[in-house]
Amino acid sequence: MTALRIDVVTIFPEWFDGPLRTSLLGRAAEDGTLELRVHDLREWAIDRHRSVDDAPYGGGAGMVMRADVWFAAAESVWNDLPPAATAGHSGPPKDAAFVAGGPRPRTVLLTPRGTPLTQPLAADLAAEDRLVLLCGRYEGIDERVHDAVATDEVSIGDYVLFGGEVAAAVVIEAVARLVPGVVGNAASTEHESFSSGLLEHPQYTRPPQLRDAGVPEVLTSGDHGAVDRWRHEQALELTRRRRPDLLAGDRDPAG
Ligand code: 6GU
Repeated sequence: MTALRIDVVTIFPEWFDGPLRTSLLGRAAEDGTLELRVHDLREWAIDRHRSVDDAPYGGGAGMVMRADVWFAAAESVWNDLPPAATAGHSGPPKDAAFVAGGPRPRTVLLTPRGTPLTQPLAADLAAEDRLVLLCGRYEGIDERVHDAVATDEVSIGDYVLFGGEVAAAVVIEAVARLVPGVVGNAASTEHESFSSGLLEHPQYTRPPQLRDAGVPEVLTSGDHGAVDRWRHEQALELTRRRRPDLLAGDRDPAG
């Protein structure tokens, strides 16, 4: 019944309670279409301060998230094992199906150096039955996590956030609405911005006159052919003015 299970690993698990348990996503989680499990990285910390970071080798400012903690967290989550089964151990449990550096579910590390998130990438991730999202914090993560734990590295744009939590929420929302059964109306995800490669045309609803602003006559003409042509022209014009890169073939949002 669950079409997609998403596990998130973060040092701010409570952050995900608000945005992702409300609205359409909350409903998808309630009816079981989408299963969202949020894990606190500190469950896999091994010292009494529950540290997940340490000073960088080679010196310099800032802290680096520890690879041993991330390896233990990932192997625990991948294999549905409790933190005690992996935390502080020097390797994965003997019978673990999924291991760092070996076979593992699709595991996305959110990082500004990742592949930019696009609609085709969201669709690709939505085709999985399991996703694990890793939220980095601080100045960086030990490179061995990038190499052996992540299968994908994703960024949500060319700007820097404190951490991957907001980016993970963006990925979850972009992916979840492409999972069959999450959005009631499948057509509403087909005819929107970016699946056509264009920005969406302007839309209007009642009232027909608001102060000095009316509604384009063609929309109330009853001529469906003319409405379709107008919408396509508007979408093209809007895309040409706002996002010429989408028309130039610099990128291919339709996949
Ligand atoms: Cl995924 N993480 C961080 N820290 N900053 C970002 C980002 C991710 N994507 C854009 N900026």
